[in-house]
Amino acid sequence: MIKQHPLKGSNRLKLGVFSTNADGGLAITDVPERWTASWADNLTAAQIADRAGLEFLLPIARWRGFGGRNRVREWSFETFTWAAALAASTERIGLFMTVHVPLVHPLYAAKSLATVDHVSGGRAGLNIVCGWNPKEFGMFGAPLVEKGYDQAAEWLDIVERAYGLAQPFDFDGEYYTLKDVVSRPASLQSPRPVTMNAAFGGPGRDFAAAHCDYLFTTFTEMADAGDPVADIRKRTAGTGRDVGVYTVCHVVCRESRQEAEDYYTRYAVTLADHEAVDDHMAGKKAFSQSHDAAAYDRYRQRFAGGAGSFPLIGTPESIAAQMIEISEKGYAGIALSFVNYTDELPYFCDQVLPILARAGYRT
Ligand SMILES: Cc1cc2nc3c(=O)[nH]c(=O)nc-3n(C[C@H](O)[C@H](O)[C@H](O)COP(=O)(O)O)c2cc1C
Repeated sequence: MIKQHPLKGSNRLKLGVFSTNADGGLAITDVPERWTASWADNLTAAQIADRAGLEFLLPIARWRGFGGRNRVREWSFETFTWAAALAASTERIGLFMTVHVPLVHPLYAAKSLATVDHVSGGRAGLNIVCGWNPKEFGMFGAPLVEKGYDQAAEWLDIVERAYGLAQPFDFDGEYYTLKDVVSRPASLQSPRPVTMNAAFGGPGRDFAAAHCDYLFTTFTEMADAGDPVADIRKRTAGTGRDVGVYTVCHVVCRESRQEAEDYYTRYAVTLADHEAVDDHMAGKKAFSQSHDAAAYDRYRQRFAGGAGSFPLIGTPESIAAQMIEISEKGYAGIALSFVNYTDELPYFCDQVLPILARAGYRT
């Protein structure tokens, strides 16, 4: 019997871990304890999160790095095979695969996703990205696709039909012309594994609103954090679709606020890998709309600290309070990153999760 996917469980605020599969996680730093993303550490971090009852593990999709001293992110594990290995070594947690639509054929993806869904007993998840990095696409000899989300709509339609239709089918689209298509087994989850779209701009939100279960997005200031949620509700109004919104935060959780802030300054300012931060920010600014324009100028520390995501820096109490605020802005869940996941997750889980439970946001 297939279990309910963890993202459909009863916790009001779902939590997961983002980007353990890549060197540095989300950080771009030179501190000696920086995340090297070894397989042993990936496995340990996943099992800590699984035992603590977090809902999901979410990998980043990265094919090349951002240079600098450590060639940060150049080392990253491919996400289908990563999820398959973790599916066999965890019990309850949801396992996302982050897939570049223009680089991966939908039938290859359909089979890989179904494989992980079977290995994990229905815990697979698909995180769709259309990509932004021309250097990365150049490695594949592929141009950045202009109307990525039109292609993504065809791509996802093919995955669903491959699972849903008992008979082979032909597909005649703008991006794919396919003959006599079959793909068995179908995923255990029906009509397909839970699906999110990682995006920021209007077309990405429209795609999520029309085709996905969740939008995965960023916000810059807590005061405006509710805007993407309100926007998605507008885009789904009258359609009968309920699309949950997830966001991403980098975390430094310590006994005292001073300790947390000192460490944030140390890893994301003093010992930031500045050359790689410059490369990452310049590329994102030029080719991705994943943040609003002001974010690049105002928040260099956030790019070194967690790829421009929102920082949760402080004591367990203050971090729990901010997470509750994010939940109250309408977010269904948060994907978290740490400088060193295996060192920092145990303290975070022991200290922050009980506060969220007492406040009624998790059990
Ligand atoms: C929260 C979030 C996570 C993302 N994760 C990835 C990723 O793992 N790999 C990648 O190439 N792009 C990633 N992207 C970038 C998207 O693929 C996309 O290129 C970018 O957001 C710009 O397009 P948009 O305006 O549609 O969002 C992410 C974007 C967001 C907002």
